[in-house]
Amino acid sequence: MDFEFSDEQRMVRDLARDFAAGEIAPIAAAIDETGEFPYDSVKKMGELGLLGLTASPDYGGFGGDMVSYVLAMEEISKVCASHGVIMSVQNSLVNYGIEKFGSEDQKQRFLTPLASGQAIGAYSLTEPQSGSDAANMKTVAVRDGDDYVINGRKSWVTSGPVADYIVTFVTMNPQGDHRDTMAVVVEADRPGFERGKKEPKLGIRASATCELYFEDYRIPVTNRLGDEGGGFKFAMSILDKGRIGIASQALGIAQAAYEASVAYARERTAFGKTIGSFQAIQFMIADMALKIEAARLLTLRAAVKADRGERFTTEASMAKLYASETANFVTDKAVQVHGGMGYSKEHPVERYFRDARITEIYEGTSEIQRMVISRAVLGG
Ligand code: CAA
Repeated sequence: MDFEFSDEQRMVRDLARDFAAGEIAPIAAAIDETGEFPYDSVKKMGELGLLGLTASPDYGGFGGDMVSYVLAMEEISKVCASHGVIMSVQNSLVNYGIEKFGSEDQKQRFLTPLASGQAIGAYSLTEPQSGSDAANMKTVAVRDGDDYVINGRKSWVTSGPVADYIVTFVTMNPQGDHRDTMAVVVEADRPGFERGKKEPKLGIRASATCELYFEDYRIPVTNRLGDEGGGFKFAMSILDKGRIGIASQALGIAQAAYEASVAYARERTAFGKTIGSFQAIQFMIADMALKIEAARLLTLRAAVKADRGERFTTEASMAKLYASETANFVTDKAVQVHGGMGYSKEHPVERYFRDARITEIYEGTSEIQRMVISRAVLGG
């Protein structure tokens, strides 16, 4: 597999790197502390095309490939994982879902403002009783003439507190199975829609997360993506792309923690020598470098398969699993290399350590990724 990047891929990576250094780095620590959603920098990301990176230019997107997306996601997440997840959800869960499964009218109405960064999107699958067991949803849609009337409650919706459009999965029969589910685009300004309080999170604190409540919420049938009954498969195939995004986010967090550790190992002295001259630290740095490189190769491999139009479910799960475990390994070791400094909020490795944790949970836990991979290997 050839990972020589094209001029366009390098251009996208450099654009994301420069933007992250100029606009995100100065606020990253402060928004982690306050938990404030970074409206201004997210708006600027939209203006630069980063919120519609992989969407078609016909609908306001940048038209980049998945490899460019991985490179850009890593650069943004290296500086701030909250911006990383906002970018990932918008690109791979929302825009992609609408572009792949939406009608021409839906692409004009929803994708164009989303891909051009004028609107914020969210993806809502999880419910209080169903996280990993995603098909077990209870939020119900009942057809009423040319409308659906929706009642229920969704949870852990990333960007839910700020989203204009939410790709939402509902069931037409709460006693049924995944064949009763469908996907709709929820418009946040219609009556019957409420947002819960923002979740107080351990990490990625500047990304906003909440529950959503639907009480006799009415939308036209024209807001349905694809067919009735197709929702669960859409959710799964959209998550395949999402998992490449989270793998790239994890990679960015790991890379940041690794670079901080290398710099600290070179500068900090103990027993009259730099700590990087001790084998204990050298081996930690070696393991970090090795795992990051392997995670990057897995993530790029999944992206290349996606760009070729091949099925990439297993590759995306492998990338997400390995990169997220790597992010947790590397940030843990980075705290260890930094000693007391690594435990202080005055140093960013403490933030990387907290931010890494979610990458093994959302968009399918590590246990779910192992299920997906083992089913591909063994069948069933
Ligand atoms: N693409 C297309 N179709 C797929 C698919 C995929 N990747 N995976 C499964 N399907 C299809 C299957 O082929 C099957 O189709 P048939 O009925 O025709 O046979 C159907 O979907 C049901 O599949 P399963 O029997 O495998 O379903 P399951 O109930 O056993 O669940 C699972 C499988 C992998 C465990 C799935 O439930 C899963 O991925 N769970 C994790 C949920 C998750 O990732 N949630 C994340 C929430 S979003 C989020 O986190 C965003 C954020 O905040 C940033």
